[in-house]
Amino acid sequence: MKKTTILYEGKAKKIFNTDDKDLLIAEFKDSLTAFDGKKKDLELGKGALNNKISTELFKLLNKNGVQTHFVDMIDDNNMLHKRCDTILIEVIVRNIATGSLSKNFGIKDGTILPFTLVEFDYKNDKLGDPKLNDQHALLLGLVSDQKELDILRQKAREINDILKPYFKNIGLNLVDFKLEFGKDKDGNIILIDELSPDNCRFWDIDTGESLDKDRFRQGIGGVKLAYEEVLKRILK
Ligand code: CDP
Repeated sequence: MKKTTILYEGKAKKIFNTDDKDLLIAEFKDSLTAFDGKKKDLELGKGALNNKISTELFKLLNKNGVQTHFVDMIDDNNMLHKRCDTILIEVIVRNIATGSLSKNFGIKDGTILPFTLVEFDYKNDKLGDPKLNDQHALLLGLVSDQKELDILRQKAREINDILKPYFKNIGLNLVDFKLEFGKDKDGNIILIDELSPDNCRFWDIDTGESLDKDRFRQGIGGVKLAYEEVLKRILK
C-alpha cells in the first residue's frame, strides 16, 4: 500500500490517502505537545513507540470483539487503517481522579472513583476542547441522535473493561484515557486515532510513577524511557 496525497496533519500524526480509497496511512510523529499545543518539543523515537503500543492495543481490542480502524502496522512509524468520518467528540474515560477532573471539581488527586466516569469534550482546538453535555453534542450536530451518544458511552466502558485489567496485569493503573470514534464506510461507529501514553495516563502500581505524557506536561523528563517501559511490559 502506497501513500499518495496528504489528507491531514495533526499534532501527533500525518494522515495520508492511499491507492485504496477505503484505507489511509497514519504516520506517527516524534513531536510532543501539551496545553492545547502551547508547549512543544521533539522526542526522537516517540512516534515509533506510539505506533507499536497502539498496534498492540488495537489488536487486543479487536481480539476481544471491539471494532477499530486498525488494519496493519506497516513499519516503525506507519499504520494502515480504515478511512472513517471522525466524530468530533473526545471521549474521556476515568478510573482515578487527576488532571482536569481534580482541578475542576476539587477531587483529591489519586482518588479512586466509585464508578468509571465517561465524559465528552468537543474536539475543537480553537475553542480549547470544551466539555460537552449530551444536549450540546446534539445542538452542534456532532452525532445524529441520542442513540449514537449512548453507543459512544457503551463502547468506551467496554474498552475500559478490557484495558483496565490488562494493564493491572502488567503492573500499571489505567488512570484515564481519551478515545476517538469514527464512522466507517458502512456507517458503523468504530474506535479510531491511537491508544498510547500520549492519550492515556498510566501509573506504576508499585511506585505510583507516571509512565505517560504527564512527564512532558510536568517537565519531569524521562519521557521516552517511560514510553519504552510501557511497550516493554505490553510485549512481555
Ligand atoms: O491534560 P488535562 O489534565 O487537561 O486533561 P484531562 O481532562 O485530565 O485528561 C484526561 C485524559 O485524556 C488524559 O489521559 C489525557 O492524556 C487525555 N486527553 C487527551 O489525550 N487529549 C485531550 N485533548 C484531552 C485529554
